[in-house]
Amino acid sequence: MQIGYVQFSPALGDLGANIEQIERFSAKFTDGGLYVLPELCNSGYNFEAKQQAHETSEPIGESQFVTFLTELCHNRHVHVVAGMNERDNDLLYNSAVLVGPDGLLGKYRKMHLFLNEKDYFAPGNIGLPVFEVDGATIGMLICFDWIFPEVWRILALKGAEIICHPSNLVLPGRAQKGVPAHAMMNRVFVVTANRIGTERDLTFTGNS
Ligand code: ACM
Repeated sequence: MQIGYVQFSPALGDLGANIEQIERFSAKFTDGGLYVLPELCNSGYNFEAKQQAHETSEPIGESQFVTFLTELCHNRHVHVVAGMNERDNDLLYNSAVLVGPDGLLGKYRKMHLFLNEKDYFAPGNIGLPVFEVDGATIGMLICFDWIFPEVWRILALKGAEIICHPSNLVLPGRAQKGVPAHAMMNRVFVVTANRIGTERDLTFTGNS
């Protein structure tokens, strides 16, 4: 299996621009590959207020972003894991979706919210699911989840072989050092797709 990631700078509050960027980068995707994108790719990260977080969220069943990813996966014969701002009734979740050529295969909702993410998002309430892609068992974690050893071990015990880790990391070098240790101790492959760029007072650390 070919695995890759897209390290880019999603635009805060501009879904159309984010779709355009991902479409452009996907020209390099290889048939049959699995590609991991950063956290909150549809919306950006550093919201100015609750209203902006709500306005940039989408219910998965009516999501322009998920529809776009489904078409992309169908056209390029790939699977994609991408972070997205998900709305479910009145609650928002910092989620990751796993999409393939036939559409949505599964999702994960971030359990360990970082700092003021708690002002916008509800903690994940669907546990740590795993999914099969082309004979490999896939799990997902999102950014700050990385610091908790238990989530890696739970996924490994559930049979995860590849853990996709969409991220918007801001603490320089910490996850980039720590994640390989989680990977080694749990005998899993990890793809940390971190974003780059600056949003207001936050600069993201790349080094996916
Ligand atoms: C983070 O969890 N986005 C730092």
